[in-house]
Amino acid sequence: MRADDVEQDLRTPRAATALAHGPGGAAGSAPTGAVDPDGAPSSRLPAAGYHAGIIGTGFMGGVHARAVRASGGAVVAVAGSDAAGAREGAAQLGAAAAAPDPQSLIDDPDVDVVHICTPNYLHVPLAEAALRAGKHVVCEKPLATDVEGAVRLAELADAARETDGRVTVVPFAYRFHPMVREARELVRNGAVGTVSLVHGSYLQDWLLNASDDNWRVDPALGGASRAFGDIGSHFCDLLEFTTGQRIVRLVAQQTTVNPLRGDAQGGQHRVRTEDAVTLQYATDAGALGTAVISQVSAGRKNRLYLEISGSRSTLSFDQEQPELLWEGRRDASRVLVRDPESLSSAAARYSRLPAGHAQGYQECFDALVADTAAAIAGRVPDGLPTFDDGLRAARLAEAVARSARTGTWVEIDA
Ligand SMILES: NC(=O)c1ccc[n+]([C@@H]2O[C@H](COP(=O)([O-])OP(=O)(O)OC[C@H]3O[C@@H](n4cnc5c(N)ncnc54)[C@H](O)[C@@H]3O)[C@@H](O)[C@H]2O)c1
Repeated sequence: MRADDVEQDLRTPRAATALAHGPGGAAGSAPTGAVDPDGAPSSRLPAAGYHAGIIGTGFMGGVHARAVRASGGAVVAVAGSDAAGAREGAAQLGAAAAAPDPQSLIDDPDVDVVHICTPNYLHVPLAEAALRAGKHVVCEKPLATDVEGAVRLAELADAARETDGRVTVVPFAYRFHPMVREARELVRNGAVGTVSLVHGSYLQDWLLNASDDNWRVDPALGGASRAFGDIGSHFCDLLEFTTGQRIVRLVAQQTTVNPLRGDAQGGQHRVRTEDAVTLQYATDAGALGTAVISQVSAGRKNRLYLEISGSRSTLSFDQEQPELLWEGRRDASRVLVRDPESLSSAAARYSRLPAGHAQGYQECFDALVADTAAAIAGRVPDGLPTFDDGLRAARLAEAVARSARTGTWVEIDA
């Protein structure tokens, strides 16, 4: 894809409405039972464009809904755990309709792109159903809670792409921070030199206390790998995306800091997923690194931190300060500030606002959806994370779990 094309999509939000309908949908009238955010009957949908159906109306459902609208699309319908939840979600997310259940949403001919924002155990069956129904799919991470499920989805995605050019995306959204793209360019153009060390962490504190609980803690809903599957996957994706190198050997330790969770009223339950993981690894180009992944680090909210050291310079990026990229050199170090006037074109094209007007997390999802729309229109956006990247994350999660269990180094195909 030409940089100009992406720039057009990102900076002209309504441009995506010119897209043709995807193979699974047809232009049509508003679905029966459509409601607007106030509960009133909805207006008709635009005849063409990015027509999304979102399954899951929690945190991510809201982020995806805003991103769809920011890139010029429409949220045609939402589905949740039940019909009442979907109606409430439709009002909150500003969707045109509430589907009574996920399959009805998938079968809705007005839905071209199915966004899956549910607990993890539902990703494989829902993505499979959506692909079999001929839809484009944006499925939240982890794509699957085991390698087998991820392989199956990646194969179905390959077949869908080859058959009718369908697009399948996993939101490793941190790739869309402009300063991440700048770091990737600095590695690519040789400014960093030969990369020797890549280290970092992904730290959160929302599961610090034993009274903190969530569906992610239950392996039946979230998968056997919790801290790593949930956020370690983001760290590894960012590392591999930015450096262009792949982790090929790793050794991991994990700990469950709170072996019991739950409150006094609901009763406590035994925890069978990890609160934190430490990793040591080597890449296919011979770089070494370490990482700490934790959901129990007091005061750390969403601190994804990556530091890359090469023979010429060191780069460090902190997701909580996404407007900045530190470039360290022996002679002089500096902090690069996001400024579309001075960034490389690869980074500037994800810069939606002028310098000094902070952009961040939501804009990453806006850009991901804009690039998804561009891919549906037949272009090839650089760095759009696909189901293959979701499968990669599943393989790494499996390797981390195996290493932690056996206490040995594990080899992984690049
Ligand atoms: N890419 C990212 O940066 C990122 C960030 C946070 C979460 N996520 C992923 O997004 C997904 C959702 O996470 P969240 O934080 O929004 O969770 P959440 O708990 O806030 O929301 C989950 C929603 O799923 C729906 N749901 C639950 N059970 C269902 C069922 N049986 N059928 C249909 N819908 C059902 C409900 O509407 C619920 O609100 C997870 O897979 C998570 O890993 C990704």
